[in-house]
Amino acid sequence: MGKPRVFVARVIPDAGLDRIRDFCDATIWQDELPPPREVLLRETRDADGLVSLLTDRIDPELMDACPRLRVVSNMAVGFDNIDIPAATARGILAGNTPGVLTETTSDFAFALLMAAARRIVEGVDYVRAGRWQTWGPMLLMGADVHHATLGLVGLGRIGAEMAKRAKGFDMRVLYYDVVRREDLEASLGLTYAPLNDVLRQADFVSVHTPLTPDTRHLINRERLGLMKPTTILINTSRGPVVETDALVEALRTGRIAGAALDVTDPEPLPADHPLVSLPNCIVVPHIASASAATRGKMAEIAANNLIAGLKGEPLPAGLNNDAVGNGRNALPREW
Ligand code: DGY
Repeated sequence: MGKPRVFVARVIPDAGLDRIRDFCDATIWQDELPPPREVLLRETRDADGLVSLLTDRIDPELMDACPRLRVVSNMAVGFDNIDIPAATARGILAGNTPGVLTETTSDFAFALLMAAARRIVEGVDYVRAGRWQTWGPMLLMGADVHHATLGLVGLGRIGAEMAKRAKGFDMRVLYYDVVRREDLEASLGLTYAPLNDVLRQADFVSVHTPLTPDTRHLINRERLGLMKPTTILINTSRGPVVETDALVEALRTGRIAGAALDVTDPEPLPADHPLVSLPNCIVVPHIASASAATRGKMAEIAANNLIAGLKGEPLPAGLNNDAVGNGRNALPREW
């Protein structure tokens, strides 16, 4: 009996890769950059399983070009790169890596908030440029974090962890979500408000929504216009939730005070993009979940999802386990 053939679209931590190699005949894409589309199609054409990253578009074209494909395991909690209804329709199981990156990502979102508020990156640049001559009573004055108002847009797992961190800094926390969470309001001391009210009142707005058709450009020109001129925007969710051109304009004109972005649209952002050079904007390369421990756990879950799918079992972190036993998933396995 042969082993299932899988394509792993990037080198991932050994915690996952070792399991995948044990169970599968794995081809692992070695380049630091994602496989180009034609390579992804070619390498997955005869594969039974695929480990994808958020940079790989898994759409009906790919699913139809890869008739053996039974499982797509995405090493990310976000899965806006996968067409889930199309996968379900074909009996392809899909999984993501929720839970393990919640605290790591919210640590990072809070770090971005603090870095932007207290102008840490500007301070580092100032010292590196040899401009530090003396202690300055007016030098690089920023905004206080403690006792300020944090507005959370989205109160999922990561948003809720962000709220906990904010409480440690005696912040007032407002939130908006399509689902009101009265349980968390009580346990974390949060206040629900409609989105526009959150944006009007917050000193810091932190975005924690998944990217869906409803959240694309949720933070647009009009909504940026509701914020105070002192507000700082933090985005660790997905770039397209914020309308890039509107943000550039808001930062350039002082409509808002600053932004700190782990995610951008487009991604990667070219080095000559205005967001990169604006002094009131911090951009980092989508690394909020990038602690060694967390990336190891993500890889492990991705491997477990992949192997469960290859065995025709429900995925431990499945996005469409209702596809078990349907379509391609119902075909006999050869391993
Ligand atoms: C995710 O998992 O969706 C993050 O964006 C990367 O860890």
